[in-house]
Amino acid sequence: MSTQAGRTQVGIIGAGPAGLLLGQLLHRMGIESVILEQRSAEYVLGRIRAGVLEQGSVHLMEQAGCADRLHREGLIHDGTLLSIGGENHRIDFRRRTGKTVTIYGQTELTRDLMDARAACGARTVYEAEDVQPVDFNGDHPRLLYRKGGVQHELRCDFIAGCDGYHGISRTSVPQAAIQLFERVYPFGWLGVLVDRPPVSEELIYTHHERGFALCSMRSHSRSRYYVQCRLDDRVEDWSDDRFYDELRRRLPRETAEALQTGPSIEKSIAPLRSFVAEPLRFGRLFLAGDAAHIVPPTGAKGLNLAASDVFYLAEALRDYYQEKSKAGIDGYSARALRRVWKAERFSWWMTATLHIFPESAGFDRRIQRAELDYLAQSDAAQTALAENYVGLPF
Ligand code: FAD
Ligand code: PHB
Repeated sequence: MSTQAGRTQVGIIGAGPAGLLLGQLLHRMGIESVILEQRSAEYVLGRIRAGVLEQGSVHLMEQAGCADRLHREGLIHDGTLLSIGGENHRIDFRRRTGKTVTIYGQTELTRDLMDARAACGARTVYEAEDVQPVDFNGDHPRLLYRKGGVQHELRCDFIAGCDGYHGISRTSVPQAAIQLFERVYPFGWLGVLVDRPPVSEELIYTHHERGFALCSMRSHSRSRYYVQCRLDDRVEDWSDDRFYDELRRRLPRETAEALQTGPSIEKSIAPLRSFVAEPLRFGRLFLAGDAAHIVPPTGAKGLNLAASDVFYLAEALRDYYQEKSKAGIDGYSARALRRVWKAERFSWWMTATLHIFPESAGFDRRIQRAELDYLAQSDAAQTALAENYVGLPF
């Protein structure tokens, strides 16, 4: 088979939020990139995931020139509700930190970035098969892939592995060069998307004897609800009625009564996992976003961490091309990991505090109740939650 050769400055694997945002920030810095994505654009846009953006992520969308619709349609939230033992406690982000979060679906953010990329004429290859990063330990890394039966070779200065948890970038690194840290939780989240107004103006994180539940939203007319489920649960076993019944049982009575239900337009189960790979740089290959780390969704940090990685990486590449400085590239891994581990800690803590662990009893349950009681009553504890939830500084 003959090979078609191409060249770019930064070859990016993956057109999720990390890859697309990196491509846009680089474009604004005058740095060229090509993105290779194994799926179609429609498939990428069909994945319902994150909904909460930190202010830092919103600023990055502004820097990328992609924040107009986000500012028009995003919902700014000043706080959130914690429902503990049937009672609501409000955490006021604005009062405690001076910051807010923005509700804007990952699907919408991805669409905005895709549109901007198309408008500036930057190249994305969708349905690229068998993508492989090679020679990244030397000065001339390449990306090999197939498209429509033709073999391609893309020569780059650098490769950004933005291909998510199941991607090829991380697994292309020799095992001896990488350390993996992981915690798997004994439950998952069953999520439903529905075209009905949200039950509350703010998100409600619920701790209940039957398990965790979350009332979230995408807009004033579209809601996103989750209940903690078993790892062996299957979506087919959860009719909409069963889902809403379970959700109502976990919510405070007035909230349960106010819940507006309707046919689900999406329903899926996500397992919960904490995971970090170290380091994030291997010669001229960098890992960013879910390719490098996973958090359980309880702290709403995954997409936001992908954004902060990409910010550090874009700055490092700008310094390389514009200032001829390698300092940013050399420091990328340590700089990004410092923020990653703090978000890992927060996401682990939110998960441990709000869920029911099936095997936990006696001492552990009492400690968890004490933690919740402390959180419900302590200003200091609520400020710590707020400070982490709105996002630690970049
Ligand atoms: P991805 O979105 O996984 O994108 C990676 C891309 O790479 C994909 O398009 C994939 O098709 C492509 N790819 C993979 N392998 C290859 C290959 N071999 N070759 C080419 N392309 C490849 N985060 C938050 O911040 N806030 C939230 O509220 C939140 N809620 C969540 C709720 C749920 C139910 C889930 C599951 C996640 C949630 N997250 C949340 C996490 C967030 O969705 C992820 O952290 C985010 O998608 C990471 O972006 P990414 O670009 O790094 O990876
Ligand atoms: C969501 O709206 O999908 C969402 C919100 C907050 C979370 C996780 C998911 O912590």
